[in-house]
Amino acid sequence: MATKAVANEDVLEKVGNTPLVKLDSLSQGNKIFYAKLEGHNPFGSVKDRAAFWMIKDGEEKGILKRGHSIIIEPTSGNTGIALTGIANLLGYKVEIVIPEKASNETKEIIRNLGAKVYETSDDLCPKVGAGTDQSIALATSIASSRPDTYYSPNQYANEANFMGHYKGTGPEIWKQTEGKITHFFTGVGTGGTITGNGAFLKEKNPNVKIIGCQPQQNHLIQGWRNFEESAKPDLFLKRENVVDDWVSVTNAEAFAVVKEVFEKDHLLISPSSAAVYACMKKYEVPDDSCVVGIFADDGRKFKSIYAQQNIMTEDEFDEALKTAKHLSDIQYM
Ligand SMILES: Cc1ncc(COP(=O)(O)O)c(C=O)c1O
Repeated sequence: MATKAVANEDVLEKVGNTPLVKLDSLSQGNKIFYAKLEGHNPFGSVKDRAAFWMIKDGEEKGILKRGHSIIIEPTSGNTGIALTGIANLLGYKVEIVIPEKASNETKEIIRNLGAKVYETSDDLCPKVGAGTDQSIALATSIASSRPDTYYSPNQYANEANFMGHYKGTGPEIWKQTEGKITHFFTGVGTGGTITGNGAFLKEKNPNVKIIGCQPQQNHLIQGWRNFEESAKPDLFLKRENVVDDWVSVTNAEAFAVVKEVFEKDHLLISPSSAAVYACMKKYEVPDDSCVVGIFADDGRKFKSIYAQQNIMTEDEFDEALKTAKHLSDIQYM
């Protein structure tokens, strides 16, 4: 994959304002389902929002100094891409600590965007809690070696991560659905997406149902966490009461819908979007529902995983890329 890095600071103005697309495959009568396509952010995922807001916050607090500070973060992928892409444009070096199970495409994009990458032998999503996680331990240890230079935004506790959704994604969804949203679905990594959107949407209408998607243990959904095998992040714990319900989803259920969504909705979706779709599909909603699911990134980074999992051969994937709808035209890989 060749890098065609997005080359100037204007791109930062493009964080957010992602499209909301109707899912014809799930919508029926007066039950309407939408996908919020976060792959349209400049570096391809929902995490551009958190990265942008955390860097801005670090600068406003005087912690981050352009040309001097190094940003270091443990991440299973999208935050690494987002931080590296955005930080580079602003004049920061970035070091990313990533579990080796993250997709090769993800690691390659991070390297191509210019970060130094450390791989650890962790499970896919860094676990929170002392002694349980190599990537968080390594990032913390590197950062503490030169505290004047290194800054770890720590997405698992950083309020700016919540704010990116409370002030960005939530209001966008409210506007895009003309205040009609009744159900909101997302997976949980740090909890920024679910708590930021949940808090905002419930302020607008306390009846909106906020539904968290829980992957199986030892899952393959990059960016998500299962709360039986990993502690809840501080950011999530602060506002976990916004969650009304949870739906569990297995790897098999998620991977099984990738082709279906491509055939019916012409979207080339990522594993986490497939997991959200599978949850929306099996959750019973009443008539007159307006359901929104966060599709945190698109399928482009997952060619190798889909081939490994026998979802699509590499040739089928290349063919799908030619006709997929609603892929952003931003070239970040
Ligand atoms: C790929 C991916 N990353 C991250 C997240 C969750 O983000 P957060 O860290 O805000 O909980 C999601 C949620 O759907 C996701 O699908």
